[in-house]
Amino acid sequence: MILVLSIGGSVIDHDRDRLTEYARILRDLRSDHTVFVVVGGGATARDYIGMARAFDADEAFCDSIGIAVTRLNARLLIAALGSAAYPVPPETQEDASVAALFGRIVVMGGTIPGHTTDAVAAILAEYVHADILIDATSTDGIYTKDPKKHPDAVKLDELSPARLIEIIASERMGAGANLPLDMLAAKIIERSGIPTVVLDGREPGQVVDAVNGKRIGTYLR
Ligand code: UTP
Repeated sequence: MILVLSIGGSVIDHDRDRLTEYARILRDLRSDHTVFVVVGGGATARDYIGMARAFDADEAFCDSIGIAVTRLNARLLIAALGSAAYPVPPETQEDASVAALFGRIVVMGGTIPGHTTDAVAAILAEYVHADILIDATSTDGIYTKDPKKHPDAVKLDELSPARLIEIIASERMGAGANLPLDMLAAKIIERSGIPTVVLDGREPGQVVDAVNGKRIGTYLR
């Protein structure tokens, strides 16, 4: 199976134990699967972007800072994986697909300004014809509305990408909302039809469950 795993930066932020656990799980998965990982920037990216904004840097410049942090986090996971990983984070999906020919786990961060690593992972999944895209985020799935603001929000076990796009576009889930996926990622998932699972990345074992077909988090199809 070809697996693309997107790990939110907030899932691994400054957490050595969790990085170690992901490294262990990914090494195991590598024996049976082709594994690609895209790592986010988390709080460190937000800190750096906040500082740059305070200096009136434009948004594209801030995105470039965010991309640099995602690549830094990718290097940290590569360090944790040791010889199981391709040694550098590719800077494009095309380079990632070539890097995979060496048979190691390929870990990358962001690519270009204007989106997040969710979209990078969705495009990579298209590019490498992934069998599954797993988004390991810091919530346990997708809700009907932002659960942090609305106690009556309901977690969805399954939904269509079209419905996800509606939820993201809705006012309730607009600016500042706690969305597990960005709009571009949702649109790529819709057009590609790649089976996608959004799950709680704070419990790395859920990734193995999802690969083994267990219904967990929110299933998009
Ligand atoms: P993340 O992918 O980490 O953003 O990229 P996020 O989803 O908001 O945060 P976490 O990791 O899930 O907590 C960090 C920032 O880097 C820039 C964007 O500014 C993004 O918000 N970025 C990242 C890009 O511009 N392009 C990319 O391909 C990736």
